[in-house]
Amino acid sequence: MANKENFGSKFGIIAAAAGSAIGLGNIYRFPCEAGANGGGAFFIVYLAIVILMGLPLMLSEFVIGRRSGKNPVGAFKALAPESKGWGVIGYLGVLAAFLILAFYSTVAGWTIDAVGKSIINYYHGLDKDTIQGDFNNLMNESWQPILSEGIFIFLTAFVIVKGVTKGIEKYSKILMPILLGILIVLCIKSLTLPGAGKGISFFLKPDFSKITGKVLISALGQAFFSLSLGMGCLITYGSYIAKKDNLTSTAFAVCISDTLIAILAGIVIFPAAFTFGIRPEAGNELAFVTLPMLFNQMVGGYFFCLIFFLLLTIAALTSSISLLEVPVLYLTEQLKTSRKKATIYSAIGAFVLCVISSESLHADTPLKLFGLNVFEALDTFSSTFLLTVGGLLTVIFLGWKMKKADFYDEYTNGGKVNIGLRKIIYFIIKFIAPVAITVILITQFIK
Ligand code: PFF
Repeated sequence: MANKENFGSKFGIIAAAAGSAIGLGNIYRFPCEAGANGGGAFFIVYLAIVILMGLPLMLSEFVIGRRSGKNPVGAFKALAPESKGWGVIGYLGVLAAFLILAFYSTVAGWTIDAVGKSIINYYHGLDKDTIQGDFNNLMNESWQPILSEGIFIFLTAFVIVKGVTKGIEKYSKILMPILLGILIVLCIKSLTLPGAGKGISFFLKPDFSKITGKVLISALGQAFFSLSLGMGCLITYGSYIAKKDNLTSTAFAVCISDTLIAILAGIVIFPAAFTFGIRPEAGNELAFVTLPMLFNQMVGGYFFCLIFFLLLTIAALTSSISLLEVPVLYLTEQLKTSRKKATIYSAIGAFVLCVISSESLHADTPLKLFGLNVFEALDTFSSTFLLTVGGLLTVIFLGWKMKKADFYDEYTNGGKVNIGLRKIIYFIIKFIAPVAITVILITQFIK
């Protein structure tokens, strides 16, 4: 740990961890999942999961990362040297990072495409059917998506090669607050549209009868996905956090800002979708058709559209950096590969998988697994299985394998900070979170 680079400042860690958390998961995936799972029912379950499982799991990952000072595979091995099996959590994480990066870059490719269209003011004056038709054409094209995905993965690798503090911190610090500002402006616009009442009541009014096993697992997967949990990403970040930094306030700040951005995205998208006649369960189109329609209705629409999609690309980039960092750190620390080579190998691997994922979106695709196209299969398998199982094993490790005294020691910076909540947090990590995650996983098998 001694010679490992630490984040430059307190704000730097929060900015980098929030940069990892805030991304396409909040603005594209959260509305998709909420729309497909009944709106308000999903939202209330999601909030409960963030508080009861997300926050404690985030703290667990920070503690494991900082205590060990290592990548996820090395961390579990270092903290439990006598029982080698725990390293599997780290391997699951490396696998999840790859799979997520592949389909994530597909969506990031659409975002870059939207930046290009915004620059030439392409959306101006178009109606819904044309924008929808264009989006579907994009999915069916071969080269254009591959080019934008390639650009995205290249940019990710470029920042990684430059190193942690200089790379990640510099970009995420200034830009995320601007994204927040634009979302607030969009919310105000959306709330004045004729469909605002319907949209808001769909999104926020809970109908408890709609809470099913599928809603629970989707909300759990989405919470872990959005907070970058369950795959060791924040273990990696934890290993860079300085010993004097307060883990609780960092985790709170990240959870609150991530959830706030997701809620704002919902408040922007659902009223607009109801106004323009886009179904809430429309999936990929929900963000990529509704938003250009919304910009078309705004004074200064050209400017907002361009800046928004640019910032969304950057938000996606600060998340993909954290995804790629997981295999890179594994290769450099465990297999002693140079950082540059590790980045190049990982990026090429992710790119190949990403091309398969985006080609699988063609209407007549043979690229299917279990009835889903590769894109959907990667998304579903990684978030509803790998992240949830990874998260479950992580809290079990912390609650039942690591010594309680070691947890408290790391969590309170060797007793230097007094954290009133520490007993409750430990209780949740040890009992509530493992039971709740297991129950949610089991409900999938009961019909
Ligand atoms: N949390 C990111 C988002 O919401 O866009 C995606 C992500 C990043 C997931 C890093 C998992 C991860 F480890």
